Amino acid sequence: MTPCLVVSCPSFIPTSPTTHMVPAFYLCCSEMISKWENNIASTEGSCEVDVWPYLQTLTSDVISRAAFGSSYEDGRKIFKLQKELLVLILQTLSTVYIPGATFLPTKRNRRMKEIDKEIHAILRVMIDKRMKAMKEGETSKDDLLGILLESNLKEIEQHGYNRKDGMAIEEVIEECKLFYIVGQETTAILLVWTMILLGRHQNWQQRAREEVLQVFGSDKPNFDGLNHLKIVTMILYEVLRLYPPLVRMKRVVHGDMKLGGITLPEGVVVSLQVMLLHYDHEIWGDDVKEFKPERFAEGVSKATKNNQPSFFPFSSGPRVCIGQNFSMLEAKMAIATILQQFSFELSPSYTHAPFTMGTLQPQYGAHLILHKL
Ligand code: HEM
Repeated sequence: MTPCLVVSCPSFIPTSPTTHMVPAFYLCCSEMISKWENNIASTEGSCEVDVWPYLQTLTSDVISRAAFGSSYEDGRKIFKLQKELLVLILQTLSTVYIPGATFLPTKRNRRMKEIDKEIHAILRVMIDKRMKAMKEGETSKDDLLGILLESNLKEIEQHGYNRKDGMAIEEVIEECKLFYIVGQETTAILLVWTMILLGRHQNWQQRAREEVLQVFGSDKPNFDGLNHLKIVTMILYEVLRLYPPLVRMKRVVHGDMKLGGITLPEGVVVSLQVMLLHYDHEIWGDDVKEFKPERFAEGVSKATKNNQPSFFPFSSGPRVCIGQNFSMLEAKMAIATILQQFSFELSPSYTHAPFTMGTLQPQYGAHLILHKL
């Protein structure tokens, strides 16, 4: 990840372009809902579904559509390749470390290189096509790639290409890969724990559905309405507190410094354990382990005992998640469309086993009983 994106496009995913993405969110959600409806159609109104793989497909489709718009199919291809690559990387990390082993022409190493090349080639063609269209005067503001390229082109036109303001095409390619890695799984995780917790806490599921039906009835959820969902937002925040998709963040100290009473020399890696902060009873109260969305009733800043800033699912500061508005809107759309169509509870076959593989996932999936409303 280069710092250029942060420098050149601080509001890379601001409110208004996100508005354009709402139809893409809706389309992907309704595809998932249709699949569940088909499952139910053959089982008299209720059925057991492991929603975890469906939610992963949903968020990868959303990234493919929202990030690459018209190049949606290419986006899907990239996602499949990235997934295969991740599995190979995890296999490599779980074997005994031998210095230099990654350079050996083993089957796995060769496949990893092939995948990297393939992703790179797809993105390169996609970006070249867009750049050409943009230079010929076509605007391309309705997907992430378009916004990124347009903002970058503007910077380069105004200041000329330099490392601080503009990005080279190679850097744009890296950013595109990053959208998938950081944007897909995190949002799927937020959604899966939300469904699990709403399956367990029927009263909150009921309250959320009442709100959704009051705002939208059976209509398609829209941008303004989604922004007015207070109960759903409180629920999502509480899920992010209890099950933050990224459980820790690391920072390297670039010069000797003092942090509180501790002196940190240059080169030290500091690790922020988000889970520890989110489960600190001195900050959140003695009910810290309970699912209580009402703690967010007056917003994030008033949720802690002494209004201490201690809620970091999206990090904070200059490297804060630039996709947080995007993912919150996507999650609200998904939850609203699900609640309009189904009620659900945990299946007896559900096993609660959160585990971390970089992100906080449900190890045995999320088996729920869905009922068509
Ligand atoms: C619930 C969903 C999400 C969560 C919990 C989340 C969380 C985070 C966190 C904690 C970081 C900081 C990591 C660090 O500093 O080490 C981060 C960075 C980032 N996120 Fe997200 N994220 C989510 C969704 C998304 C989405 C949907 C996108 C893009 C479409 C996205 C794009 C990014 C990018 C590009 C960065 C790197 C920013 C930088 O280093 O300057 N995220 N995210």
